[in-house]
Amino acid sequence: ETARHHSIAVLPGDGIGPEVVAEAVKVLDAVTDPAGVTLEKTTYPLGAAHWLDTGEVLNEDTMERLRQHDAILFGAVGAAPNDRRVPSGLLERDLLLKLRFGLDHYVNLRPATHYPGTTSPLADPGTIDFVVVREGTEGPYAGNGGTLRTGTEHEIATEVSVNTAHGVRRLVRYAFELAQSRARRKLTLVHKHNVLVNAGRLYQRTVDEVAEQFPDVTVDYMHIDAATIFLTTDPARFDVIVTDNLFGDILTDQAGAITGGIGLAPSGNINADRTAPSMFEPVHGSAPDIAGTGTAQPTAAILAGAMMLEHLGHPELADRVNRAVRADLEENGTATRGTTRVGDDVVARLR
Ligand code: NAI
Ligand code: MG
Repeated sequence: ETARHHSIAVLPGDGIGPEVVAEAVKVLDAVTDPAGVTLEKTTYPLGAAHWLDTGEVLNEDTMERLRQHDAILFGAVGAAPNDRRVPSGLLERDLLLKLRFGLDHYVNLRPATHYPGTTSPLADPGTIDFVVVREGTEGPYAGNGGTLRTGTEHEIATEVSVNTAHGVRRLVRYAFELAQSRARRKLTLVHKHNVLVNAGRLYQRTVDEVAEQFPDVTVDYMHIDAATIFLTTDPARFDVIVTDNLFGDILTDQAGAITGGIGLAPSGNINADRTAPSMFEPVHGSAPDIAGTGTAQPTAAILAGAMMLEHLGHPELADRVNRAVRADLEENGTATRGTTRVGDDVVARLR
C-alpha cells in the first residue's frame, strides 16, 4: 500500500531557488490535493544568505531533522560569483556534498528529454529521451586524496578513485531495474575500461553479472570519449546510461546542453535503499544574474517535483505533471513568460 501522507523538507536556497521552488510546490499541491495525497512541508532556510545571517552551513541538528523527512525538495544555493563574503567551495563541500554523502545518495539520476516546442542546438537531434544513472558517492569524488610536499617543486597531489563492489552493484542494479521499466529496455555502460582497468573491470563484470537477471534488457558498452561523440551525433541511440561519478558529471552537462536549456533539466539524488530521504532539484544554480526579476524558468524545478512524486510511490501523479509540462512547452516554448505564469499555466493544464 502506497502512503498518502508524506513529510517533505523544502530547501529553497538562494537567488532564483525560492522563486522556482514556489512554482514546483504550487504544481505539487495542485496535483496531489485532488488525489487525496498530502505533502506536509517544512521549509529550511539553508544556503549563502542563511550562512551570512547565522554562520550555519548545515549543522548536525539540522541534518538529523532533515533525515526524518520522506523526501527533500531543493532549489539552488550560492551567492554571485563576485560576492567575496562567501568562500568558494564552502556550500559545495559543507552543504551539497554533506547532504549527498550523509544521506547516501548513491544514485544521481538525470533524465535528458528534448521536449517539443524547445530548441536543441543539434541540427538533427532525433528523439532525445534517455536517463543518466550516475554514481553519487564514490569514484574520484569520494575525497580520498591529498597532497605531500605542498607548494614545492616536488608536490604530489592525488585523488584516488574509490569503487566498491557493493557501491557498483547497487548502482548497476538500480540502472537495470530502470531500463526494465522503460519501453526500449536498453542499458549502456559508459566507462574507460581499456585504460582504467581496475575500476572498469569491476563495472563491466558487475554489469555482466546483473544482466543475467534481466534477460530482456539489451546491454551495450561505450568508452566515455566515444560516448561524448555519440551524444552529439546520435543521442537517440541511448536509453539508460550507467556510469561512474566523474564521467557522469561530464555526460550530464553535455546531455543538458543538447536537450536545449538549463531551465528544463531536473535531477534526483537518490538513496534507493530508502535508509534516508532522497533529494530532488533542478540541475541549474541560483542564477544571481536574474534573481528577483521574475523571469526564471521554473520548469526544471517542477519536473524535479514530478521525480519526487514518482519516488514517493505516485507514478500516475508524476505522469500527470510530466504530461502537463510537455503540453505547456509544446504550446508556449521556453520564451520568457514570467516564473509564476509558467507555474499557473501548468496548474491550469492539470485540471
Ligand atoms: P547557474 O545555473 O545559476 O546560471 C547559469 C546561467 O543560466 C545564468 O545566466 C542564469 O541566469 C541561467 N539560468 C540558470 N537557471 C535558469 C532558469 N531556471 N531560468 C532561466 N535562466 C537560468 O550557474 P552559475 O551562474 O554558474 O552559478 C550561480 C550560483 O549557483 C553559484 O553560486 C553556484 O555555485 C551556484 N550553483 C548551485 C548549484 C546547486 O545549488 N545545486 C548548481 C550550480 C551552481
Ligand atoms: Mg556538474
